Amino acid sequence: MTRWGWCKVYNSALVSYNFCGVIMAILPIRVFPDPILKQKSKRVRTIDGSVQRLIGSMIETLHYIHAAGLAAPQVGFPLRIIVVGIPEKGDIVLINPEVVRRKGECLVDEGCLSVPDYRGEIMRAEAVTVKGRDQNWKEIRIKADGLLAQALQHEIDHLKGILYIDHPETKIYKIEPGEAEL
Ligand code: NI
Repeated sequence: MTRWGWCKVYNSALVSYNFCGVIMAILPIRVFPDPILKQKSKRVRTIDGSVQRLIGSMIETLHYIHAAGLAAPQVGFPLRIIVVGIPEKGDIVLINPEVVRRKGECLVDEGCLSVPDYRGEIMRAEAVTVKGRDQNWKEIRIKADGLLAQALQHEIDHLKGILYIDHPETKIYKIEPGEAEL
C-alpha cells in the first residue's frame, strides 16, 4: 500500500508525491464519444518509470473520484492497464489482463465514468478468472465473482475499445447527474 506525502495544486492539476518521490496526478476522464474509447489498447512490453507513474496516477484518480475501476484509455493512454478498487478487496492493478475463464451468467446493473448520466442492465459472467501482471511485473491470476468479476469484465472491455453501451442487449437508462458510477 502506498503512503502519501503532501499535496499541492500545481498547473491546475492536483499533484502529490508518494514516499518514493514519484509524482502522481489526478487525470481527466475521457468521455463518450471520445475516439480513444473505441481504440484497441496496446500491450505493455515492460514496466518503466512512465508506466509506474501512469499506474500511480490511475490509482490516485480512482480514489479521488470514488470509482470501482479505471482503464488506461479512459485517462488518455491506450495501454492494457486497469486498476480496480472494490471495498474489502483493496486496489488491484492488472497489466495486460485477459479473461481466461468465465462461469455462469448474471444480469447486473452498471455505469461508466466515461458515459456520465446513464446506467444499463447488462449480462455478465457470474465468475471469471483473469490473468495478467501486477505493478511489479509479477504474473498473477485472480479468481473473482460478484462485483469484482463485474468490474474486471467492464475494465477489460475498455481495453478492447468496448463500452457497456456497445453490448447489443444492454438496456440503457438515464440517471440524475452525479449518481454512483462503476
Ligand atoms: Ni467504464
